[in-house]
Amino acid sequence: MSLTFTAPGRVNLIGEHTDYTGGFVMPVAIQFATTATVSNCDDGLYTFASDRFENTRTMKPDDRSTKAGDWSDYPVGVLRELQSLGIVPPPFVLRLSGNVPLSAGLSSSASIEVATAMALLAHAGTAMAPQAIARLCQRAENNYVGSPCGIMDQFIATLGSAGSALLLNTRNLSYDLLPQNKGPLGNCRIVVANSGVMHSNASGDYGLRRRELEAGQNVLLRRWPYLRDLGDVTIEQLASCERDMPSESFRRCSHVVSENHRVQEACEAMIAGNPKRLGAIMTEAHASERDDFECSCEEIDFLVSTALELDGCYGARLTGGGFGGCTVNLVEATKAQAFANALKDAYRTRFQLEAETYLCEAADGAVAGAQRHKPGRGADDDASI
Ligand code: GLA
Repeated sequence: MSLTFTAPGRVNLIGEHTDYTGGFVMPVAIQFATTATVSNCDDGLYTFASDRFENTRTMKPDDRSTKAGDWSDYPVGVLRELQSLGIVPPPFVLRLSGNVPLSAGLSSSASIEVATAMALLAHAGTAMAPQAIARLCQRAENNYVGSPCGIMDQFIATLGSAGSALLLNTRNLSYDLLPQNKGPLGNCRIVVANSGVMHSNASGDYGLRRRELEAGQNVLLRRWPYLRDLGDVTIEQLASCERDMPSESFRRCSHVVSENHRVQEACEAMIAGNPKRLGAIMTEAHASERDDFECSCEEIDFLVSTALELDGCYGARLTGGGFGGCTVNLVEATKAQAFANALKDAYRTRFQLEAETYLCEAADGAVAGAQRHKPGRGADDDASI
């Protein structure tokens, strides 16, 4: 017997690097996904395989080896977290397949983790609340893979909802679904542009930014002990501590404190159905990521500034962890295809590189079965990597 579950990748509309200091994020699940199929086997072992990679990994149930440094660490990390809760699945073969672009800032890893968790839970004959699955998958990534990520990616992969962006308060995991396909916003498309510059959260830059930020946060918390984290800090409080912290910590904190405001403003713009305002806030967020958080790069800045010159574009910004990856663009639907083509042409001319573009619609979070998430419309939508 085999059991199959599918979990999507995501694009974050706004709220970057706010999900590990009690802030807000606003991601949407997208049509690219990972499918995990788990089958019984009688060799007494756990086997992990993927259609996207050549190597398989096999281990005994009591294996406690450290990470292998490849794709298999994500599902093995999930298994380890389940085992630490006393959930010991019977021997299995877990096969993964999918089309979430890899190392592109679209959360291929969270989609693997969530699809794996759901498959292994079902295989073990047990269940878990969606929020608990998201937290378990985050712990898998923090503890086993060694990537100090926040909760956003695993949460949206689990709880995303077709047609809506998800406004998540990462302090207490309360959330609202904001319809993204109604009113004037329904006449917009989310266009994702993949620079092809690859970056992994487990590499040093993400952790370095986190440490710089936390150094600044510690200064603030010493001064106002009732603050829980940067999510509670006002712009004025931060400004009054500028001279008490290293300048890079001040700029990293400035990004996070201002970004939390922007997410809330973006939420109001979405509720008011105002794409112009939403786009302007996204573009402001990019400037903050580029200048204060310093997690952009030349290729991404080029994609953003070019996008803003093109007809029908309301706003553009770097999405995801940064240092490469993708931009997210809010574009008038009837102009989205021409926008994507023009952006790719400009990128090719400037860098002699191909950017992929994906016309996205907010998709559902994890589901039982192998069905692909509803495909978007447009030239590169079916691009499988
Ligand atoms: C990565 C992490 C997330 C989040 C973003 C930045 O995607 O996995 O938890 O921190 O970067 O917003």
